[in-house]
Amino acid sequence: MASNKLVKFAEMDFELILKWTGKISLIVNSKNKLSTLNQKLDKKVGGVITKALNSKNFNSLKEGEGVELAFPYGLKAESLQIIKLGLNPEAMKARSAGSTMSRFKSHSDLLIVSGPQKNINEVLFGLSLKSYNFENYKTQRKNTSTKILCLLEDIKLASESFKKYESVARSVFFCRDLVNEPANVLGTAEFSKRLKDLEQLGLVVEIFDEAALKKLGMRALLAVGQGSDSPSKVVVLTWNGTSKSTNPLVLIGKGVVFDTGGISLKPASGMEEMTMDMGGAAVVAGVMKGLALQKSKSNVIGIIGLVENMPDGKAQRPGDVVESMKGDTIEVVNTDAEGRLVLCDLLWYAQKTYSPEAIIDLATLTGAIIVSLGHENAGVFSNNNKFCGQFLDSAKSEGEGAWQMPLSSNYEQLLKSRIADTSNVGGRTAGAITAAKFLQRFVEKEIPWVHVDIAGVAFLKAPHKFGPKGATGWGVMTINKLIESKFEKT
Ligand code: BES
Ligand code: ZN
Ligand code: ZN
Repeated sequence: MASNKLVKFAEMDFELILKWTGKISLIVNSKNKLSTLNQKLDKKVGGVITKALNSKNFNSLKEGEGVELAFPYGLKAESLQIIKLGLNPEAMKARSAGSTMSRFKSHSDLLIVSGPQKNINEVLFGLSLKSYNFENYKTQRKNTSTKILCLLEDIKLASESFKKYESVARSVFFCRDLVNEPANVLGTAEFSKRLKDLEQLGLVVEIFDEAALKKLGMRALLAVGQGSDSPSKVVVLTWNGTSKSTNPLVLIGKGVVFDTGGISLKPASGMEEMTMDMGGAAVVAGVMKGLALQKSKSNVIGIIGLVENMPDGKAQRPGDVVESMKGDTIEVVNTDAEGRLVLCDLLWYAQKTYSPEAIIDLATLTGAIIVSLGHENAGVFSNNNKFCGQFLDSAKSEGEGAWQMPLSSNYEQLLKSRIADTSNVGGRTAGAITAAKFLQRFVEKEIPWVHVDIAGVAFLKAPHKFGPKGATGWGVMTINKLIESKFEKT
């Protein structure tokens, strides 16, 4: 499973710099004080480094930005990048520097020359995240495995501490890969198979088929998948990283492998994007993989609901009433509001089975959250201010946009049903909030719970700072950070 290293390290080697035929990235700290090595290099290239550093253009750059000089005299390299970064940069600035290197890098091999730089691992992490590509279905792959080599005075410490970053990057990539896969490849069976493969890393993986789900009483979840030929499944991933007896953190993910809307069919335009409607499930999968790779000292359960929402003779109808696992009846006024039907049974199952310390659910749940927050922030809803604050702090420190939304009781009336305990949709207003209110009905008051609507952030149509267009992996780093800071027991 572990493929090539994302970044290799080597001791500083001036001759290698001179011979390198790809691109070279130089991190410079101050325009007045070139390191001895950079001075030596500057001489070789006829002083263009000093010239660049003294330029108006360079002076106006922010930390983490840089300039690129093509085919520098005196070197074999295709280009020399000069990246501006303080000696002890903040983590996010260092990641930005890595992102800049990746944009300049294009499809060439890259040699990074770093001085006594603090946070070089953050630079390499940003570079790795931005260099991700999903080209499985391009018959002429552009990315013919280029290499990244980092030259340092002392490689031991950096290469050892980069391992952790590499694990997190791989778990983000696992998430992105799942989201980028088309629905004819990643159906419920293939998804559960990829999760089963995680057993090799030490996770315990249980798969519940439709018969088992029926026995458990997950009728709301099963109703969503009943119009599809792909069998509905629930996959439970267990990471037991500490013997200290703690109640687990439970992560729950919406895994609608394709959302046509069902009988409440979506319009054709843009429907192809609904292959990402398993984005919440992919985040849970990514985090769980990351915990195993890092051998995290935490106890975490990941619960993933895999269904396909199709229109069919057997599909549920608008107006159907289903009884959830909890026992509450739901009038399915709109079959396109299917994610909440999946999540409500998973939430109930999690509480009945694990007495969780806390629950986080992630879902590409509503178009309404995109209207509210665009693609910059995920919508965060919670019944517990302390836990919500911890989640938001983690998101902030990882640079993943997250914004708390209200969950006050007056929104509840919008979900009233004529014939059942609740409708699965509110009216036209406050769509992301009524979705969250629906879920809250299935969460016991005393359990700290965060619901994250990632419909706007899981998948982007344009490249972003730390990745190409398509799946972002939003949330994997945030939750990894939250577990590291609040749920590890040493
Ligand atoms: N999967 C969609 C939400 C979505 C929209 C995700 C856009 C990503 C991008 C969800 O199942 C859905 O269709 N929600 C409906 C709810 C409505 C019927 C109350 C929506 O948002 O329109
Ligand atoms: Zn839908
Ligand atoms: Zn959906």
